[in-house]
Amino acid sequence: MPTVHIEAKKEDIAKRVLMPGDPNRARYIAMKYLEDARIVNTLRGEFAFTGKYKGVDVTVFSSGMGIGSMGIYSYELFNDYDVEYIIRIGTAGSYDKDLKLYDLLLADSVYSKTYFDEEAGHENVEIINSSFDLNSVIMDTARIKNIKLKIGRVHTTESFYTENKDYSKFIELGCMAVEMETYALLFNAKKFMKHATALFTISDNLITHDEIDSISREKKLDEMIYLALESIIKK
Ligand code: HPA
Repeated sequence: MPTVHIEAKKEDIAKRVLMPGDPNRARYIAMKYLEDARIVNTLRGEFAFTGKYKGVDVTVFSSGMGIGSMGIYSYELFNDYDVEYIIRIGTAGSYDKDLKLYDLLLADSVYSKTYFDEEAGHENVEIINSSFDLNSVIMDTARIKNIKLKIGRVHTTESFYTENKDYSKFIELGCMAVEMETYALLFNAKKFMKHATALFTISDNLITHDEIDSISREKKLDEMIYLALESIIKK
């Protein structure tokens, strides 16, 4: 069932979807981890691949950047393609000096002051929890595989370039890191009563100003990708 934004046939999208922001990362994950990976979407360069991970069908679909793009793709995946589970796998900037580069963060909830929710037809909710079910599986899997995982709230911002460097308000609201898509994903999961969460590799620290380069951003995310794949196939 193609939509205005997705050309894949309905049967070509699995019930379990991983969503990196970057189409190149979607290709990297598919080539490295999926058996019999086939490309199922190229529209607008937002690549999606479907294949098998340990015998289970998984789709890797790039969300693009920002609430707008994630808002469209997650809506259509849940509503038109009957997707049940989405794990966003992304990078985030840390608000905490102890949340360091390459640390893994699982978002148990998200905060955003965006107007997206009101325009999408709901009240201004501001804080949304991620899927308890998916989070439990991810935490169990991390423990079994000996992967260190921090858990906390993320802030979804709409502006990457900001003049205001005072993050104290977000820190007071419990946010450990900032990114640009999770609010839209969790909003749509709640709307359609589906399951979604988000895992992050810390790519920069807004307090200490450390950061990793774009090549490493693409390649050094394997632990997060492995954890997401090992977890989603258990659902
Ligand atoms: N701001 C917004 N999104 C991000 C950042 C940031 O500093 N780092 C990684 N994703």
